Amino acid sequence: MASDAFAATTAPIRRLTLEDMPACFHLATDRDWPIEEKKWRLLFEIGAVYGIDDPAGGLAGMVVCTPYGREVSAIGMMVVARRHERRGLGGRLMRHAIEQAGTATTWLTATAFGQPLYAKLGFRVASEMTTYMGEIQPVPQGEPISRRATETDLPGILALDGAAFGAPRKELLTRLMGRAEVFRVIDSPGGITGFGASWRSTQTACLSPVVAEDMDAALGLFADLARDTPGRVRVDADHRFPRLRAWAEAHGLQNSFQTAVMIYGEPLPGDRARVFAPTMQALG
Ligand SMILES: CC(C)(COP(=O)(O)OP(=O)(O)OC[C@H]1O[C@@H](n2cnc3c(N)ncnc32)[C@H](O)[C@@H]1OP(=O)(O)O)[C@@H](O)C(=O)NCCC(=O)NCCS
Repeated sequence: MASDAFAATTAPIRRLTLEDMPACFHLATDRDWPIEEKKWRLLFEIGAVYGIDDPAGGLAGMVVCTPYGREVSAIGMMVVARRHERRGLGGRLMRHAIEQAGTATTWLTATAFGQPLYAKLGFRVASEMTTYMGEIQPVPQGEPISRRATETDLPGILALDGAAFGAPRKELLTRLMGRAEVFRVIDSPGGITGFGASWRSTQTACLSPVVAEDMDAALGLFADLARDTPGRVRVDADHRFPRLRAWAEAHGLQNSFQTAVMIYGEPLPGDRARVFAPTMQALG
């Protein structure tokens, strides 16, 4: 039961630090979300994590917001403890995160729990996203269209990402390059025209982000990443790309859950036809 003394409309929102990570895990498990330590470390490093303390101990709610310049921010990990739900905490945390980020656009993927609340706050549905998981079967054959990236590729990767994503992701992509299991690039005479990574927070490796010139190049990158990534993988497939969903299904991945892609504010910057997979749903 929620304590009567807990004032949902006025309880302070504070910026959380790494020391609060165990409390974030505890709150995530309250909603049956997995504990993903590596992912949370990255979120704390590049994003702003906000929370509301529960006077009874731990956190009553939390949210993570990651701004990329003044252009766009991504919101994720929005959770309110069951014992405090439907008292306005989720709405307050969301409004606070959007305000603090102060970007032209905010992007998120919404569960069925979150979608009505976000719609009320002014978010509109831009697309759907199906998350596929499983072991890639059959493993793609053929010659790779990409090569392993090295540190010297970073300027080319950032130039491509700046045009496609439309906002600065240097901090994220630099860290990801150091931590990814696989990071590959597609070369062309004019420079790098595609990149993709696979990284692991749990036993399942995420094949993301993927940025490429067109769908053929993107599927080539997914195939190259899959070949280099043993075990269970995850692919977040935006319904803007039906061929990506068909590829995931043809390679034995199962439809695990579905979310709505929602946007607040201006249309997304950049050339999103070239952004085939987010880094993770919480980061855009
Ligand atoms: C989604 C989630 C964060 C919402 O948190 P919340 O604190 O319950 O959100 P709010 O109370 O601000 O709003 C939820 C609903 O309660 C209503 N509400 C707000 N204050 C209320 C009050 N005092 N009394 C009754 N209802 C209230 C809101 O209008 C809203 O209604 P709607 O669902 O019809 O839009 C929470 O349900 C949750 O953690 N779910 C599981 C994890 C999850 O799916 N997270 C979302 C990821 S995208």
